[in-house]
Amino acid sequence: MKVFLTGAAGFIGFHTALALLKKGHEVFGYDAVNNYYDPKYKENRLSLLHDFDRFTFRKGLLENEDLLSASYRNFEPSHVLHLAAQAGVRYSLEHPHAYIQSNVVGFQNIIELVRHSQPEHFVYASSSSVYGGNKEFPFHEKQNVSHPISLYAATKLANELVARTYGHLYGIKNTGLRFFTVYGPHGRPDMALFKFAHRMLKGEAIEIYNYGNMIRDFTYIDDIVDGVLSALSHPQMNKVYNLGRGKKELLKDMIAMLEKALGVDAKKEFLPIQPGDVEETFADTSAAREDLGYKPTVNLEQGIPQFVRWYQEAH
Ligand SMILES: NC(=O)c1ccc[n+]([C@@H]2O[C@H](COP(=O)([O-])OP(=O)(O)OC[C@H]3O[C@@H](n4cnc5c(N)ncnc54)[C@H](O)[C@@H]3O)[C@@H](O)[C@H]2O)c1
Repeated sequence: MKVFLTGAAGFIGFHTALALLKKGHEVFGYDAVNNYYDPKYKENRLSLLHDFDRFTFRKGLLENEDLLSASYRNFEPSHVLHLAAQAGVRYSLEHPHAYIQSNVVGFQNIIELVRHSQPEHFVYASSSSVYGGNKEFPFHEKQNVSHPISLYAATKLANELVARTYGHLYGIKNTGLRFFTVYGPHGRPDMALFKFAHRMLKGEAIEIYNYGNMIRDFTYIDDIVDGVLSALSHPQMNKVYNLGRGKKELLKDMIAMLEKALGVDAKKEFLPIQPGDVEETFADTSAAREDLGYKPTVNLEQGIPQFVRWYQEAH
């Protein structure tokens, strides 16, 4: 495959690019390397990808139509994996325009290129947050998702609708992947596991929302990468899949596992749930299992020590 991969400097993009390169595929990475979180993590990921001759990288915004288009057209991808986005739920309360620019305008720019070049498959990142306040668990793809509760979720839902429309109008093969709380080595500093580890090791209190009663379906990065690679190589029309572990975990249990792995007792500050946050996420992964052979295997008990090992080496 010749994969045009947006978000290659990001957490999931980096791991997916690495797996593709190790399998002998060619990857063109495109990423703004923005400072939503410390770009040193992104530079570090990119330096590992540059070890491969089959990796090319261009720093640029999705909103920069000319640069995006020139990079894309020169490369002539057989597959497009669109992972670049403004992520995060809480940040969208204060920076709404960043979400419209990256996730709506940026998505439109990439799907227009796809429309005119017709690669074998266009795969893009959606999110478990599209399920909003749905109360039927586990979440499955046939549920109604017309009630997002954050702008972030609304932009991801918009992406699914645009992809579906372009599939209908122009016959573009496309698959959206709804990721569920992905964690692991090289993880994102704005996500709970990383933030908690960072504060706990500095002896600072950790902020625990919803008094620790938040439920998340934590999914280890290697399982996600397997799901993404399988989705890429199964061109389909207008599909959306949950990629989660398929297991509910209480936030306070995750913290207990992290305390054990770090050998630290956390100082805890319990807080109410934040606006835009979903209380519970839990994936029904049967569709991905059946169609893509997706088989997540890593439990939180196994994944947290892997994350901690990387964190301690990296810092
Ligand atoms: N990590 C998770 O738990 C999770 C869960 C659900 C969905 N997702 C989605 O998966 C995708 C990858 O997430 P991630 O965790 O790797 O996030 P990340 O923030 O680490 O990676 C996203 C990358 O996109 C780049 N980017 C952002 N806006 C851009 C723009 N306008 N132009 C060019 N590049 C831009 C950033 O520089 C960053 O490197 C995103 O679409 C995210 O919304 C992630």
